[in-house]
This record gives sequence, structure tokens and C-alpha cells, in this order.
Amino acid sequence: MTQEQLRVGILGAGNITRVHAAGWQTYPERAQITAVADVARDRAQAFSDLYTSGAASVYDAVEALVADPAVDVVDICLPHHLHTDAIIAAARAGKAILCEKPLCTNLDDATRIRVVIDETGVTFMSAHNQLFQPSLLEARRLMAGGFLGQPYFFRSIETFQSRAFDPWAGADEQTAGPRAWGWRGDVKQAGGGELLDTGYHATYRLLSLANDRPVEVTAVLSRFFQRQLTVEDTALVIVRFASGTVGEIITSWALDVVGGRHFEVSGELGTMAGGATYLTHQLYGWPEASQREFQPASTFTAEIGHFLNVVQLGASNPATLDHAARALQLIKAAYRSAEEGRTVTLPDDPTQPATPRDAATETTYSAHVPTEAMA
Ligand SMILES: NC(=O)c1ccc[n+]([C@@H]2O[C@H](COP(=O)([O-])OP(=O)(O)OC[C@H]3O[C@@H](n4cnc5c(N)ncnc54)[C@H](O)[C@@H]3O)[C@@H](O)[C@H]2O)c1
Repeated sequence: MTQEQLRVGILGAGNITRVHAAGWQTYPERAQITAVADVARDRAQAFSDLYTSGAASVYDAVEALVADPAVDVVDICLPHHLHTDAIIAAARAGKAILCEKPLCTNLDDATRIRVVIDETGVTFMSAHNQLFQPSLLEARRLMAGGFLGQPYFFRSIETFQSRAFDPWAGADEQTAGPRAWGWRGDVKQAGGGELLDTGYHATYRLLSLANDRPVEVTAVLSRFFQRQLTVEDTALVIVRFASGTVGEIITSWALDVVGGRHFEVSGELGTMAGGATYLTHQLYGWPEASQREFQPASTFTAEIGHFLNVVQLGASNPATLDHAARALQLIKAAYRSAEEGRTVTLPDDPTQPATPRDAATETTYSAHVPTEAMA
């Protein structure tokens, strides 16, 4: 595709679509919203009226929007279980695709998506907006320049206490829970719990920091606060990478961490930690940490700007299908690990599921436990 203005069709006119709309509208020379579809047609119409003065065509089905010749790009903002069919339909129609996280709800679907994306050759980018946090970009730049020397340990954090459902409202747990949470409260539609939803951000962030292949996963899941859910509201996941570096994911709808921290990296020479508006770093021996501040930025707007660069200028794609599948594979592995109470091994192909660990992966940093220490 060229640098001409791209015509954007949005699938789903719910919560996140408004944020995407603000993103697309930041680049009026390069993109224009020309269509929107939602099963709740009135919602799609309200969106068209509000954001395009009614100019965008309104549909109530995915198929109708992807068949619209006045759409070059399909932006998928649907519930998780609808991503697969929407991606496949948009790819078959030859559209470039930006799709909200998670890629889909299971690895079989990831394989199906990969076949179609490979066949059609359309551009596909996952909406991994947190990759565009200025603090993360700066941390990765510093690490690439060797600032921390050899990195050893990464922690990725995505936590908040969700009050989307008020546990003190006294509502009947049987009926009010799933209704209050909508499709997110139904594991058939959501594909998992908090880890697959909000934890997906922490997962792709960890993968981007480590820049390495995850080989082993160990997880503990909890439901601390969201008693209406049948799934976890909190996850702790430990990941060993092929080089021997170690990562940790902390993600929750039940709790938060101090200072809104998103990540930490510790290495040979020092340590760093970042949040939405800051990056703190301290080399060992420095008397105190040094902090750089960033202006609050919309990561969604930055992500959409980058997607335009990928489609129009051939910029490199930081959230390809394989990146997205790897995040999903890791999360599914964490579910298996937690349920079976053991470490699992990840295959190289990101669309393939984890297997039980038969022997620990040997790395440069493997530390064995002497018998005396275990007694
Ligand atoms: N990147 C982020 O931080 C972030 C934040 C929120 C949501 N999301 C993602 O965005 C996606 C949507 O989440 P949301 O919070 O906007 O959900 P939502 O429930 O607010 O909106 C979903 C919309 O899809 C519509 N819809 C449902 N079935 C449909 C169908 N068959 N055809 C057309 N429309 C249909 C619904 O009517 C609704 O308007 C999810 O995948 C979620 O993970 C990402």
C-alpha cells in the first residue's frame, strides 16, 4: 500500500474503539475512518455520528464490513473469541489488519490464522500498545547499548484493582457476576481469565525486554478479590529464557504495586525500573538512582501511528503474528503449569502448546542444588 490516505473499518464499537478512534484521528492526512460494525447497530451508528459526523458506513456484521471496497484496513476491537474469524475474513478480503490483544483464545486458532496470513500476505499487526510506552522504549534502547551489561532478570507488571464489578454491592453472585463482567466473565468467550486479558500486556512486554525465546514456564494463579469470576484474578509466572535469563510476570485485577511500576530489569552492571512516566536506573555503586521523566503519552495513538508506518512506509513490525502467538503460547503454558503444579517446556514454534518438562533446560546460568541443601 502507498502513502495515500488509508480507509479504516473498525469492528466493534465498544470500550476500546473510542480510544482507537482518537488514535486514527491523530493522523488525518494518513487515515480516515470510513466504516464501523457492531452487532449493536445503534452503537455503531452512535460511533459513526460522534467520530465521523455520520460519514462512516454502519454495519451490523463483520462480513459486511470486510466486504466494503471502501475499506483498506480493518481494526479489530471485538471480544476475544471473535478475533479469529474476523482476522481470517479480513485477510481473505485482502485488508491490512490491526487486531486488539489477545491474538485469539487458543493455539489451534493461532495456527489457522497463521495459515491464512501466510497465504494472503496481508499486513497483520497485533495491538500491543504497551510496547510504545516511552519508558519501555528508552529502557530497551539503553539495554541494546549495553548500559546494564548482561541482563539477568526481568520483571513485567500489569496490575490494578478492578472495581468493574463491585463485590460489596450485595448482588446475587450467580447472576450478577457474569452479567457485570459481560463476555469477560465467560471463559468460553474470554478464553481465560485475567492473565489472558490484562496479563497479555505484561507477557508481551516481558518478551520484548528479554528479546529471547522462552523455554520454561512455571505459574501460580490466584483469585484474591474478584470472587464472582470462575477464573484467576491474579497470576505470577516465572519464565526461563534460552540464554538462561529469567523473567517474571505479575498481573492482577485484585491488587496493585507501589508507584505504578511496569517493569524492572537487573543485570551485570545495574538495575532499571519503569512506569508510564518515568525510568529509574541505578548502576551498582551509585549512591542513588537517577530518574528520567516522560510526558504522559497515549500508547494507542503511538501504536496506530506505527501501524501506519508499517503499512505505508514498510517500517518493521514489532507485533507480528509470531510475536502475538508467542505471548499466547506462554500464557497457555502458564495455565497448564498452574493447573498441573509443575514447570512446562515451550516448543520453538509459537503456535504449539507446552509439554510437561522432562528435564530442566541447561543454560549458562543453571544452578544445581547439592543433596545437602535439600535435606
Ligand atoms: N489494549 C488495551 O489496553 C485494551 C483495553 C480494553 C480492551 N482491549 C481489547 O479490545 C477488545 C474489545 O474489548 P472492549 O473492552 O472494547 O469490549 P466491549 O465489550 O466494550 O466492546 C465489544 C464490542 O463488540 C461488539 N460485538 C460483540 N459481538 C459482535 C459481533 N459478532 N459482531 C460485531 N460486533 C460485535 C459488542 O456489541 C461491543 O460493542 C478485546 O479483545 C480486549 O482485549 C484492549
